[in-house]
Amino acid sequence: MTDLLETPAPPAAPGTTWWRQAVVYQVYPRSFADSNGDGTGDLPGLTARVPHLARLGVDAVWLSPFYPSELADGGYDVADHRDVDPRIGTLEQFDELVAALHGAGVKLIVDVVPNHSSDRHPWFQQALAAAPGSPERERYVFRRGRGERGELPPTDWTAAFGGPAWEPVGDGQWYLHLFAPEQPDWNWANPEVREDHLRTLRFWADRGVDGFRIDVAHALVKDLSEPLPSAADLAAGDLPDGAHRLFDRDEVHEVYREWRELFDSYDPPRTAVAEAWVPAHRRARYASPEGLGQAFNFDLLQAGFDAASFRAVVEDNLRLAAQAGSSSTWVLSNHDVVRHASRYALPAGTDEEAWLLSGGTEPVADRERGLRRARAATAFVLALPGSTYLYQGEELGLPEVADLPAEALQDPTWRRSGGTRKGRDGCRVPLPWSAGGPSHGFGDGPAHLPQPGWYAALAADAQEGEAGSTLEFYRRALAQRARSQTAEELEWVTGTPADVVAFRRPGGWTCVTNFGTTPVPMPTGRVVLSSGPVGETLLPGETTVWLEGEAGAGR
Ligand code: NOJ
Repeated sequence: MTDLLETPAPPAAPGTTWWRQAVVYQVYPRSFADSNGDGTGDLPGLTARVPHLARLGVDAVWLSPFYPSELADGGYDVADHRDVDPRIGTLEQFDELVAALHGAGVKLIVDVVPNHSSDRHPWFQQALAAAPGSPERERYVFRRGRGERGELPPTDWTAAFGGPAWEPVGDGQWYLHLFAPEQPDWNWANPEVREDHLRTLRFWADRGVDGFRIDVAHALVKDLSEPLPSAADLAAGDLPDGAHRLFDRDEVHEVYREWRELFDSYDPPRTAVAEAWVPAHRRARYASPEGLGQAFNFDLLQAGFDAASFRAVVEDNLRLAAQAGSSSTWVLSNHDVVRHASRYALPAGTDEEAWLLSGGTEPVADRERGLRRARAATAFVLALPGSTYLYQGEELGLPEVADLPAEALQDPTWRRSGGTRKGRDGCRVPLPWSAGGPSHGFGDGPAHLPQPGWYAALAADAQEGEAGSTLEFYRRALAQRARSQTAEELEWVTGTPADVVAFRRPGGWTCVTNFGTTPVPMPTGRVVLSSGPVGETLLPGETTVWLEGEAGAGR
């Protein structure tokens, strides 16, 4: 009998692979929509805007932290991982959001912040109140300071936002914080810490979330055995893979294997994506099916807007994702970087920190060009196999707000760097939903970060139904992508001009981007999407088109 052999393998259970080629929209909740006029975005505000997201055509929302927080780091200092910040809403309102998203066919991914807590977390407060060497202090990383009375930090390490990575607690002990002092690092060697995080994951998975974005996924497990290295030794460039004391240690994957078991105990299994700033060849470990399943690829954040860079990033990442048994991710903007409409508006090689410090005046950004290139890059990544992560407001073509006054800045980077780095507030300014109103439709009062006057022209209602607007372009692109999305395959089109990158997807769909400034002959095929105006015979510079039919390199 050959019946069994001839029976085709059952298709993957419905709903289990949606994440592989999803469009995921990041919401930074305090800046998305404010329902009660207190200046801070909230869950009811977001729920009311679900129709916007559904109309845009996204598959999922990634919600940045909405947990109780003192906002020492925009919510990434979490005081209670299993609750909602009262300024943002309630657990019931969270459930309403899940229902509204699911009702609209949109999945929800929540942010999990497992490297550190807030210093207001009850366990950290208990640690401060307890004696050195106590079980309470064992949940975090406490060490005795150097010097006779422990008056010097245990090491000379610096924190990501600037300043020392250790904070004294007054009894000769210091605690480690890789980020702000208000963000003490957990001790992942402690079983209680591991158990508590499993509880957190179950808590949200039970409430119906579809997946998790794992913050600083590469830093949880550390080797803090004595003697601790100096900052210079810690950062030695020639360390073998996995040998860094603080980052990307192999043991961290034991944690994720355990998490994967938990995720897979749900039906459908919960997804996860790692924020792991590791060399590209180490990403596979985070993205493997036994691990988190997917990992962010941030390579395009660092690539210039040119054909060779984009093509190299795509080739590398498709190969690496395939090796990991995962799909690649594509990111052009998020809440930590200068918005891509501004990055591409600056001359190649511009120091973005210095540009922000100058208030966005040196050099002057070419906004029109930035937006033209941003749309071309967006159309390019949306045509690739894999998942694309969009950041709120990019569908409006928002540039960075580079001239926020010093007194308005909230990012700890500004203070901790002694005013030498302005930080990330410029991409976190609350969204303009309407041209008018006290905060351009964000809420009924002023927004928690000041919005510029030019927001009016970019507001969602000003772009609604406008042919050629960025909002309508995103809608068309996502709708067309949904229609054309096929197997995770790509075939490069050869013989294109040097500034042009073109690739075919299964089903007769071709994406062509002219990264140069000189128009090139329009390839054959029917144009189903263009990132900007195109003629019959010429593909203008800094423009992407999607073509159907027998598309080729030139007419
Ligand atoms: C990465 C987050 O994206 C960033 O916003 C945050 O400041 C750090 N992790 C620390 O949690």
